[in-house]
Amino acid sequence: MRVLLTGGTGFIGSRLKTRLASAGHEVQVVSRDASGDVTWAPDAIREAVRVHDAVIHLAGESLFARRWSAHQKNRLRASRIDTTRLLAEAVADTKPRVFITASAIGYYGTSTDRRFVAGDGPGDDFLARLCVDWEAARQPAIDAGVRTATVRIGVVQGPGGGALQKMLLPFRLGLGGPVGHGRQWVSWIHLEDLLAMLAWLLENEHTHAEYNGTAPNPVSNRELSNTLGRVLRRPAIVPLPGFVLRIVLGEVANLVRDGQHVTPGRALAQGFSFRFSEIEPALRDVLDAR
Ligand SMILES: NC(=O)c1ccc[n+]([C@@H]2O[C@H](COP(=O)([O-])OP(=O)(O)OC[C@H]3O[C@@H](n4cnc5c(N)ncnc54)[C@H](OP(=O)(O)O)[C@@H]3O)[C@@H](O)[C@H]2O)c1
Repeated sequence: MRVLLTGGTGFIGSRLKTRLASAGHEVQVVSRDASGDVTWAPDAIREAVRVHDAVIHLAGESLFARRWSAHQKNRLRASRIDTTRLLAEAVADTKPRVFITASAIGYYGTSTDRRFVAGDGPGDDFLARLCVDWEAARQPAIDAGVRTATVRIGVVQGPGGGALQKMLLPFRLGLGGPVGHGRQWVSWIHLEDLLAMLAWLLENEHTHAEYNGTAPNPVSNRELSNTLGRVLRRPAIVPLPGFVLRIVLGEVANLVRDGQHVTPGRALAQGFSFRFSEIEPALRDVLDAR
């Protein structure tokens, strides 16, 4: 298939591009950078969507790039919502075979007690509202009858990026440990499984709507940190108080301090299978691959 990919220079997208190309797809990347194949100019997007069979939209300002000032919140929102709307309108006009978009498990809000599956409603914090509006921006494509599938991505565990990359240094120095009380859920996914899920959505005509991009077995933050300590053969006993994180990072600290238990029942029921369902083999694989 001819695939138009946004976010193709990022942590997930750059690996997806390689994977799709090696499966025989032809991939063009939309980027703000001159090195991309297509710019975000509306005319360029419309023309590019017209000549592709599939659009995969992963672009978005990094949630961890800087503190969430009012200005930064606008960037986080616009980089996802405005771009999704632009693509969805182009998709509605020219009708490629499929439109695949990213969202995040922040859609559900945070909870230590509740268990979330794909049919559940949204939370009401900043990130949840962002995800609701991000997903709503797909609507022109859905209304036009184009197969549209969205992955609410969990905490991606992969080499060279994501949350794990940020945890490695303190753990290697023996300064790792749980964040706050450590009971908050971490709904993680191995990068290879996320790439496989995106390829599965691309290639399977029966898939559409929202899927949780999380492994079947979320872990507590304490279990994640104990497991990482074991894999790295380092102690994982130095807790990081939630209030310290909040002082250092501001509101973005909530992403680490609070969590949500999210499972991928819909993808499993429709035939997707995970290579990594348990955290320890996943972390061992990622750290071996470095
Ligand atoms: N990694 C995770 O654990 C995780 C978890 C949940 C959800 N997600 C979502 O999955 C998507 C991809 O994640 P990732 O980890 O690969 O992100 P990433 O490494 O930060 O890459 C995101 C890409 O988005 C583009 N971008 C950044 N800021 C932008 C802006 N202001 N306007 C337009 N484009 C912008 C960049 O492409 P150019 O520089 O080429 O323009 C960049 O390559 C994101 O939407 C993210 O929110 C990721």
